[in-house]
Amino acid sequence: FICLIHRGTAQTTLGHLFSEEVSNISFPKNFKWGYASAAYQVEGAWNLDGKGPSVWDYDARNNPDWFINGQNGDVGPDGYHNVDVDIELLLRQKVNTYRLSIAWTRILPNGLLSGGINQKGIDFYKNIITKLRANNIEPVVTMMHWDQPRALEDNGGFLNESIIPAFLDYATLLWETYGDDVQWWTTFNEPKQICGGGYDWGWSSPQNLLPGIGSYICGHNLLRAHAKAYKIYNERFRETQKGKISVNLDLTWQEPATNSPEDEEAAERGRLFWLGWFAHPMVFGDYPEIMKQRIGDRSRRLNLTTSRLPEFTEEEKEELKDSIDFFAIQMYTTNLVTAQEDAPVNETSFDNDLSINSYQPDDWPTTLSSWFRVVPWGARRLLNWIRDTYGDEKGIFITENGYPDDQTILEDMDTRGRCHKLYLSNINDAIYKDKINVIGYLAWSLIDDVEWYGGWVVTFGQYNVDFTSENKTRTPKQSTEYYRKVVTTGCLVD
Ligand code: NOJ
Repeated sequence: FICLIHRGTAQTTLGHLFSEEVSNISFPKNFKWGYASAAYQVEGAWNLDGKGPSVWDYDARNNPDWFINGQNGDVGPDGYHNVDVDIELLLRQKVNTYRLSIAWTRILPNGLLSGGINQKGIDFYKNIITKLRANNIEPVVTMMHWDQPRALEDNGGFLNESIIPAFLDYATLLWETYGDDVQWWTTFNEPKQICGGGYDWGWSSPQNLLPGIGSYICGHNLLRAHAKAYKIYNERFRETQKGKISVNLDLTWQEPATNSPEDEEAAERGRLFWLGWFAHPMVFGDYPEIMKQRIGDRSRRLNLTTSRLPEFTEEEKEELKDSIDFFAIQMYTTNLVTAQEDAPVNETSFDNDLSINSYQPDDWPTTLSSWFRVVPWGARRLLNWIRDTYGDEKGIFITENGYPDDQTILEDMDTRGRCHKLYLSNINDAIYKDKINVIGYLAWSLIDDVEWYGGWVVTFGQYNVDFTSENKTRTPKQSTEYYRKVVTTGCLVD
């Protein structure tokens, strides 16, 4: 398939990184094109029809100041009452894939099967999934996108291994209920954010913080929950349902600031701590050596009897190894990395275990999100690193990528549209020049939504949501036209 598009250069106000050539480019025929979303960010209806509170619902009431301008997910874009409206938008955009997450507490209000199943919650997702399928849109379903049940936090949430059987009951119920209609599953979204943000360095709910410890314990329980769920799927559902399961991982690409061996090593350490922490166990069966070494060594020097990074049993390693059916990666930006001197061992933190200095140079194009500069080439390097480290036979699926901006700006072709285009251009290079098996691309996001504690001051939506209107009216931004053209032609059009 050849794209009949004339060549052109893409000089924009966003600066030199945009000045590369991007055209005459096509994507593979069966490429998955779509959007990604998450329950807390789009649904609202936080306590309607029997839904129990998640950790975010708890914060919205108990720590309201954490949410910018008081903007939280109680109502948000009210996706709960706009299912048909949003499916219409997907149809308008002609995408073939949509990623949603299920709110655990809409199905099991107190997180536990023994607490009873909420039939209205079951029906709500059944309706969405059925309609997506009826319209030939493939659902990709995430079981938990950061909104774990608040009720389980009384026992420590992910710090307590009792969350594992609770999650397994939930996952099993989802497969029993929706497994015939859903082929693509992810158990958890961005575990690094759940565990680091929620239990170690803070920013994400429940902010139950144990610096240098909480992230590792949470990660350990989450990984074991994933592996055991994967095993259940293999034993009970795979033969009939034939689905694919993974975990949505994320990495800010770690680029060495210089080619000195120290900086190269620091950048690799960054990749292994940030991504390998979860990817290594699920591919190879154990944490990266460098994590075991450094955290173990720093723990011993502090006279702790065991490493702050827990160990898997042999049986757990077996369960974890090869426990993903595709590699789900979310990519946004890149940092430069230099080596850093080790901090004293009594200063226990994830950052001190990792010990790198990472930053974004001033001349990289900024966005309204402080953490996000537009660095399209980082996408290609990241894909290469994933292929070289973990292989790409099972397919690499880009399950999020997008551009943050003031949500009221509708003329976003030179910013959001251009950003998608340049990332896609690099992804295309990864596919055709580097021969990497990339199977799909999901834009974050279809509509403006609740960016966690950040409310909707800065959003990623291609459709604007009028949060002040009663119906939360959706209005297309320019980028919808661009993305639709790419999706319908399979070409990186100008
Ligand atoms: C990744 C997260 O999965 C999603 O919830 C968030 O809104 C986007 N990044 C943008 O920050």
